[in-house]
Amino acid sequence: MSSIVCKDLCKTFRQREEIITGLDNISLTIEEGDFVCLSGPSGSGKTTLLNAIGGLDTPDSGEITIADILINKLGKGAMADMRLHKIGFVFQSYNLIPVLSARENVEFIMQVSGMPAAERSIKSYKILQEVGLEGMEERRPAQLSGGQLMDLFTELNQQQHVTFVIATHDVRIMKYAKRLIKMEDGKIISDQIQ
Ligand SMILES: Nc1ncnc2c1ncn2[C@@H]1O[C@H](COP(=O)(O)OP(=O)(O)O)[C@@H](O)[C@H]1O
Ligand SMILES: [Mg+2]
Repeated sequence: MSSIVCKDLCKTFRQREEIITGLDNISLTIEEGDFVCLSGPSGSGKTTLLNAIGGLDTPDSGEITIADILINKLGKGAMADMRLHKIGFVFQSYNLIPVLSARENVEFIMQVSGMPAAERSIKSYKILQEVGLEGMEERRPAQLSGGQLMDLFTELNQQQHVTFVIATHDVRIMKYAKRLIKMEDGKIISDQIQ
């Protein structure tokens, strides 16, 4: 199982004389195929947590394991490989690659899971058709509406078991999540299945 396990993550930032809390002892397990929304006020640590999980920044202490691999100890090359094959990309709030079209994004996810090319092409067409994106296959994520993207994410989550972790304040996006985690001052203050 490619679950994400975070254990006792701490991160502080120093700004001149001030020490700012990014993550305050966060422990969290996200199972493969989950759809998690991180919410909480600005400055609560959502981006810091996503950056840590995505290997874009390292916590001061604690451990992150993805698919049974402890990512803290990975070198740059191995981390880049992990991001490509296991994590996908964390671009702003979305896990899609902005330079690829909707169809290419869907096929990319399938390719990572080892699906042969012919099957990818048939299946990606079907998925895009099911979410009402027929005729819009070649659009890039930025050329789709928020609702169209969320429908696509839901389909990928359900059909391909792609795990999503999205940071947002947008209640319209939160509605799509299976699990809602609220953060405040670098801590998890609530964690609910919805
Ligand atoms: N590079 C940085 N330098 C200094 N402080 C930072 C840096 N990144 C984040 N912070 C601080 O860490 C806290 C958490 O930030 P962040 O994770 O971006 O919160 P959120 O994404 O929930 O708005 C905030 O107080 C923020 O100002
Ligand atoms: Mg943020």
